[in-house]
Amino acid sequence: MSERRIICNCNEVYNDEIIKAIQEKGCKTVEDIGEETGAGTICGGCVDDIQEILDEYAGK
Ligand code: FES
Repeated sequence: MSERRIICNCNEVYNDEIIKAIQEKGCKTVEDIGEETGAGTICGGCVDDIQEILDEYAGK
C-alpha cells in the first residue's frame, strides 16, 4: 500500500480509513464510503479518488 495520504479534505479522511472501510465494512460504492467515513459527502471533489481506491481494493 502506498503512503498514508488525505483523500477527503472536507472531512479529513485518509486513504487508509477508506481502505479499512472497504476491507472491514464491505463498502463497495462511493456512497457506502460516504456513509461509513463521511468522505465525499460535502464538496464531492474527492469522489474520483475514492472511486480509484474502490477500483483497487473492492471486490478482491
Ligand atoms: S474533499 Fe471530500 S467532500 Fe470535499
